[in-house]
Amino acid sequence: MTTVALDFAPYVAPVAKPSTGPSRIACRVCGSTQMLSYLNLGKQPHANARQTLDGPLVSSTPLRVFACMKCQLSQLSVVVPPNELYGTYSYRSGVSAGWRAHCASLAKQYGGAGKLALDIASNDGTLVRAMRASGATAVGVEPSRSFEDCDYDRISRYWSAALVEEFPNLLGAVDVLTAQNVLGHVADVHDFMRGVALSLKQDGVAIIEVPYVCDMLRALSFDTVYHEHLSYWSVTALRELCNAHQMVLSDVQPLKLHGGSLRAVVRKSGDVAPSVARYLATEARDLRKGSYLRFSERVSQHMLALNDTLRDLVPYVGFGAAAKTTVMLHCLDVRAYPKVVYDDNLHKHGFAIPGTRVPILLASPGEFDVLTQPIVIFAWNHADEIIAKLRGWGYRGDIFVPALEPYWDTLEDA
Ligand code: TYD
Ligand code: ZN
Repeated sequence: MTTVALDFAPYVAPVAKPSTGPSRIACRVCGSTQMLSYLNLGKQPHANARQTLDGPLVSSTPLRVFACMKCQLSQLSVVVPPNELYGTYSYRSGVSAGWRAHCASLAKQYGGAGKLALDIASNDGTLVRAMRASGATAVGVEPSRSFEDCDYDRISRYWSAALVEEFPNLLGAVDVLTAQNVLGHVADVHDFMRGVALSLKQDGVAIIEVPYVCDMLRALSFDTVYHEHLSYWSVTALRELCNAHQMVLSDVQPLKLHGGSLRAVVRKSGDVAPSVARYLATEARDLRKGSYLRFSERVSQHMLALNDTLRDLVPYVGFGAAAKTTVMLHCLDVRAYPKVVYDDNLHKHGFAIPGTRVPILLASPGEFDVLTQPIVIFAWNHADEIIAKLRGWGYRGDIFVPALEPYWDTLEDA
């Protein structure tokens, strides 16, 4: 009898692993051990790791999400040491025009002459520069060595309460503190918030932007789950954290960024906008065990369908070597992989998508008017901007966006 070996293991989509009873993991906000395990993406490499084209594949770590049944914070089951993730860091927020516009509007609203603005995890300095343009004195805090070529004032350290105590100029001195997409990256959220409280002036304001867990559940954006994102915030959890540090969650606004985020406006005292109670009531109704498990089921179905679509598109090319591209590829069958992935970030050029041999190429206009293969935009949160750019470069082929409702952008025949 002859047996035929399969080239690859059959494709298995992410699955729900419901847990019962108390877990060994405690919620990092409220300490509860009533944690529901609801998304298991297997072992994955660090999504922004530097993967050389022909060197060994970078190592993988389990990627599993638990929800706290008390404060509705979702968190990963493991914490990768920050230096492994951020020592060198290729992510540059200013690559996106949409992000630059977002920072400019934030600076216009909260900056201004005479103010001291402090931006935590300032990355390439996009917001610090916008604050400076508004007339404010602006300083960033950024630990990664990867931004040495970026010209702005910064403290090259991780944010912490101890850091504020070391810099007397920061103690009770900051008018506007910004923390965009960083609270979700921090393991000790209480220390983070202690630092915020210590640095703010009595009438200062902290603008904290985080991906919103309800948006992730609604939009099936499971590919925003990766090792850098330790927490997925609810308003319930944000308020719990603020309360623990005698801070007031004074307003919450939705943001159409990264697949759905929240802007939390935090102060030392003052009124609370009606939006906060509205969000809390909605979460009390919608964030239940069944909602998390339904999400997981839908993710599995979505991935199965997406896997089939992408396999039929092979050979195709990808656009956007985002962290979410790494996650997405590791949830797919290798036979559904793109040939290459293009990206506008020079710092990613010449590397591969972590844990794979799929090369990342710098996108340059001349190539796209002759390209006939379909393009899949893995960085679906920037799809409009990228589609406009590709069409502007003369690309005439089909574009596929693998979002919640996958869609095509096809040029009409002339
Ligand atoms: P990002 O939205 O930051 O997602 P993640 O948090 O998952 O990394 O990443 C977007 C990626 O897309 C980033 O690598 C830059 C790239 N990009 C381009 O190459 N060109 C563009 O015009 C835009 C908007 C993004
Ligand atoms: Zn909790």
